[in-house]
Formats: sequence, C-alpha cells, structure tokens
Amino acid sequence: MRILHVAAEIYPLVKTGGLADVLGSLPPALAKRGLDARVLLPGFPGILNGVVGLKPIFRIGPVFGAAVVTLSLGRLPDSGLQAYVIDAPFLYAREGNPYVGPDGYDWNDNHRRFALLGWVAAHIASGELDPEWRPDVVHAHDWHAGLVPVYMAQNPGLKTPSVFTIHNLAFRGIFPMDCHAELGLSARKLTPHGIEFHGKISFMKAGLVYSDRITTVSPTYALEIRTPEFGCGLEGVLSDRGSDLSGILNGVDYDIWNPDDPVIAKSYSADSLDGKKACKLALQKEFGLSSQAEGPLFAVVSRLFSQKGMDLLLAAMPDLLREGAQLIVLGTGDGDLEAGFKYAATANPEKVAVYIGYDETMAHRFMAGADVLLVPSRFEPCGLTQLFALRYGTLPLVRRVGGLADTVVDATADNLAADTATGFVFDDPGRHALGARIREVCALYHDETTWRQIQRRAMVQDYSWDDSAAHYEVLYRSLLA
Ligand code: ADP
Ligand code: GLC
Repeated sequence: MRILHVAAEIYPLVKTGGLADVLGSLPPALAKRGLDARVLLPGFPGILNGVVGLKPIFRIGPVFGAAVVTLSLGRLPDSGLQAYVIDAPFLYAREGNPYVGPDGYDWNDNHRRFALLGWVAAHIASGELDPEWRPDVVHAHDWHAGLVPVYMAQNPGLKTPSVFTIHNLAFRGIFPMDCHAELGLSARKLTPHGIEFHGKISFMKAGLVYSDRITTVSPTYALEIRTPEFGCGLEGVLSDRGSDLSGILNGVDYDIWNPDDPVIAKSYSADSLDGKKACKLALQKEFGLSSQAEGPLFAVVSRLFSQKGMDLLLAAMPDLLREGAQLIVLGTGDGDLEAGFKYAATANPEKVAVYIGYDETMAHRFMAGADVLLVPSRFEPCGLTQLFALRYGTLPLVRRVGGLADTVVDATADNLAADTATGFVFDDPGRHALGARIREVCALYHDETTWRQIQRRAMVQDYSWDDSAAHYEVLYRSLLA
C-alpha cells in the first residue's frame, strides 16, 4: 500500500513543534509495517539541504507566482524513505521559520506557498508528476496541506482517497476571499458548505470538508473539537462529519527520547535511577541554580503561548516559590510571557532559570534533569513533551485536556493504591487550581517511596509509534476496501 504524507515540517530538517516530530516518525513506522510511505515537502532551505541525493523528476514551470517550480525526489537522512521536494525558490527559499518572516508577521504570500503544496500533492496522486509511483492514499497534515483534498476533488477522474489530520485546530489558515482566483479554486466551493469561513477562505476548513476521513492526534481532542469551547468556530463542520472523524494518539520515537541518550549527564533506567540525580545536578549547575533546594525542580519545554497555559504558570509562580521548589524554562514565543519568565529569573536567581530559544539537545537535558514537567495547557491536541517526560521519570503535571488527559494518570489515592499513577492532573484553567496542585506535588515529593513508585510506573509506559501506526493502517485499509 502506497501512502503519500503531505506536510510543511519534518524532524530533524524543519521543525516548529510536534507536527515535525510526527512526520519524522509516522512514515518510518508505517514502512516498518511493510507500507510504502513517502513524504511531500516544500523546498525550504532546511529541506533542500537535508534531503539526500535530490534529483529533479518533473519541471512544473510557472505556477502560483513562481517562475520556476521543479519536483525533485531524494531520501530522508535517517529513515532513508523517499521524499518529494517542491523546489520553488521564489516561494520557499527563505531562512528561519517556515510561516513567519523576520518581522514576526506571516509571509503575505502564504496562501500561494501552501496552495502549491496541495496542488503538487494532487498531481502526484493523479500520476502526472511521477509516472512510476502513484499513492493509494494521500494523507495531508494541518492547514498547510488543507488544499490537498480540494485540488484532488477538482480532478473528477481521480478516485484516490484522502485523509486529513488536525494537529492544531487553532491555526485555521485563513485568507481573503479574493485570493480564490489566484489559487484556481472553483466558485462552487466558495460557500459555507465548502471552504468559506466568515467571508474568507480557510485552508483548515477545506481539509475538513473535502477529505474522505479526518483524524486528530488524540481521542479526547477528537471529542472536544465538536464543541464551541474547543472547535474554533469549526465545531459545526466537525460535528457534521462526526462519523468520519477519529482520534489516533501520537507516539514517541524512543530511539531519540530515552534516558540513555548521548546528550544527558548520566544514563539511567526505571530499575536504576541514580543517574537521574547526576542529570539534575548538572542541570542546576549549568543554569546557576542552587543544588540545596528543598522542593522539586519543575521544568517547561514549550512554545510560550497562552495555548500552553504559560500565563497560568506565571500567576502560580508564588505558590511554587513558597514551597522551596525551582523552575527552569526552555522556550520561545509571546514577548510578554518571555519577559515574565525573565523577570522571575532575575528576581530569584537561585530558584528560577530561563533560556529563551530553541535548542533540541537542551530539551533532552531538561527532560532528564527535572523532577516534574509542567504542561498546564488550555487545550492540547496531543502533546509530546509529557510523553518524553514519562520515559525520563520526570513526572508530568498537566491540565486534563486533549492528549494530556489521555496519557497521564493522576496520582489520586485510588490510582496510587492500584499502582496506575504516572503524574499529576488538574482541571480548572485558573491560577488557583494550578497553584494548589503545585503545592500538593511539592508535598508528595518528600514522600520518596511514593515518588519512586510513580516514576517507575511512568517510565515503563509504552507510547511507541507501533500502536499508532497500526491504527493508521487500519484506517487506510478501510478506505481502500
Ligand atoms: P506543539 O507542537 O503544540 O508545540 P508538542 O508537545 O506536540 O507541542 O511538541 C513540541 C515539540 O517541540 C517537542 O518535540 C518539544 O520538545 C519541542 N520544543 C518546544 N519548544 C522547544 C524549545 N524551546 N527547544 C527545543 N525543543 C522545543
Ligand atoms: C500540534 C499540537 C500538539 C501535538 C502536535 C503533533 O502542534 O499543538 O498537541 O502534539 O501538533 O500532533
């Protein structure tokens, strides 16, 4: 079975978040099951430099404002899987973030940049660009690939089924209605039953309306997004398509995220946690934090935005500090939140440290060295960092939403008695609930036996990709049946 994955990011070449992790791991996990999985990516500098042995296979000519567009084929550096790359320098040869320019604003031609991605996918599906390989199923990810099923639908002879996966509904890919002509979208599709969204065009809605099946990255988020609270205005479409919508949990690549990885101070395992102490000391030293703190070391590895509940954490900071705990933050994002954490670090140099930036190896050192990973998200489609944390015996403290609710078992008295607890969960998205849970976690930290018990339980959880890939395979087969 041939599957074409279409996305804007892939670990380790271009990454702004978990979407890249998924693209780096899911296609190889499918290949391990015997499927022929390939990816299609925009030719950003990181992709052109990273994909190995790229050879042009089709000169597409001028489309979407680009004078020269070439489709090339090469191999992904780690997995060796085949990768199609759209080389369109006018649209993609820009350093830095794939969506946002150096001024911090979205590129003003994003509609064309990502329409091209969808258009090429549809033409690979029809066999026009690579006569030697036609996918049986096309699998598009997030709004960047939202036009894939639309361009496929505009080819009446094309019967290839499509799957569309929502990684984050909050990014809806909204553009002015008058760009439809530029994108070659037929007028019939510009209605509320099609891709119109409050007088504009939404690429996300396009994916939701025109794909054969919709998935999202956890079962709980698949239910939440049918409600106004989480649906971002698309809850109606998602409810209408409820029978085609399901949640498949993301996995973790344990070859990359494991407490024997080469960048941490000392390796350890569920049976022998001594190395974790060395990792904590090394991290405290690296950031000038006291090694004599009474309370646990809390960590954040995250985009710093309100989605991630970072404002709640800033508000709950007095609770954390009062308990003698420490906090270490790795992230970038909203300027106000960055400033808030920096201020806290300056005011409490032995207790709070902040690294504003993006650093993949530092993320590993945080996972290994911290006692607790904080993920107090307002919404969380799946979340990967809590899964990494579990494997490192760093107990996640999460809000009960989306994939966080599906993957962390709260240390309640019942769950502790049943030995199922793997972390800590709170409900109310207010400062007080998080602060209260932080205080309880600090108290429990002093009960070493119980803490160990939860750590061991957390570390043996299996969120590898095998299970998730099996679910996707069942979905693909159901479309071909
Ligand atoms: P999201 O995709 O919403 O940002 P996820 O938890 O799914 O959330 O994935 C985030 C990914 O990005 C993880 O791999 C995490 O380790 C990584 N990450 C986030 N911020 C940073 C950072 N500042 N430095 C290094 N890695 C980061
Ligand atoms: C999105 C979500 C995150 C999810 C990731 C990968 O960025 O915010 O929860 O884990 O996609 O699916």
